[in-house]
Amino acid sequence: MRLELQGRNALVTGGAGGIGGAIADALAAEGVAVASADTRPPPDGAGRFLELDVRDRDAVLRAFDAAEDSGVVDILVNAAGLYPSDPILEMSEAAWDRVMDVNVKGMFLTSQEFCRRLVAAGRPGCIVNITSGAAERARVGAAHYCTSKAAAEMLTRAFALEFAEHGIRVNAVSPGYVEVGSAVNPLSAEYKAAITGSIPLGRAGAPADIAQAVLFLCSRGAEWVTGASWRVDGGSRAGTLGLPLSRVS
Ligand SMILES: NC(=O)c1ccc[n+]([C@@H]2O[C@H](COP(=O)([O-])OP(=O)(O)OC[C@H]3O[C@@H](n4cnc5c(N)ncnc54)[C@H](O)[C@@H]3O)[C@@H](O)[C@H]2O)c1
Repeated sequence: MRLELQGRNALVTGGAGGIGGAIADALAAEGVAVASADTRPPPDGAGRFLELDVRDRDAVLRAFDAAEDSGVVDILVNAAGLYPSDPILEMSEAAWDRVMDVNVKGMFLTSQEFCRRLVAAGRPGCIVNITSGAAERARVGAAHYCTSKAAAEMLTRAFALEFAEHGIRVNAVSPGYVEVGSAVNPLSAEYKAAITGSIPLGRAGAPADIAQAVLFLCSRGAEWVTGASWRVDGGSRAGTLGLPLSRVS
């Protein structure tokens, strides 16, 4: 299938991260002008870097102004995110707020500004939100994160509904465990081994696995897809792995 993404203009939040970086690279390889917006510069990678804290509305406006140097931004990928580990009885109010502010409010602010500009220009576009299996499956130490990702799934559908008449499609890619080696979001070796062992397809995801799904959702091939959430997780949410047969022999 031809993706036909040449000439589009994308802003990728969290573009210095593992998944956001792979998405920025994949879009750039398809001829998209890409701005990677993050609080820190990417280690390498395609496209230009824009410093952005997604929690800051004025900074969001400035980032869109800067990205519009290459034309109206018509692809937004929200990949900025935090996934700290805080057991509930140890979770501070500040820790709760930080996760909700980056993962939910940040997604709202960037998406609102993206839609505002496209509606004013009378142009179509698409948003892809990177959510998580945590939206559907709670895990210990992640009450804030799981709640934020469930909210991000609903935000995806709310935006999809409200902007469909403007030709703006809004979808989510919901990854399972993806090995990124993040310094921002470090994970223990024990956690990585346990979660990798629970994946039916037998390996952790790679950032490129997520990027491929994002490319499709941005492409003409997905022009009738909005309000959807695509699980890209090696089968993690297909069912319970490792149970024996229940039949009595
Ligand atoms: N890696 C996984 O297993 C996995 C699974 C499911 C979902 N996700 C989601 O994928 C997204 C990317 O995560 P990743 O695994 O690539 O982690 P990562 O740490 O490599 O990337 C996250 C990026 O977000 C940036 N960021 C954090 N706060 C920000 C802010 N206020 N403003 C702008 N940028 C900010 C960080 O600097 C970092 O570059 C996140 O939303 C995460 O929740 C990851």
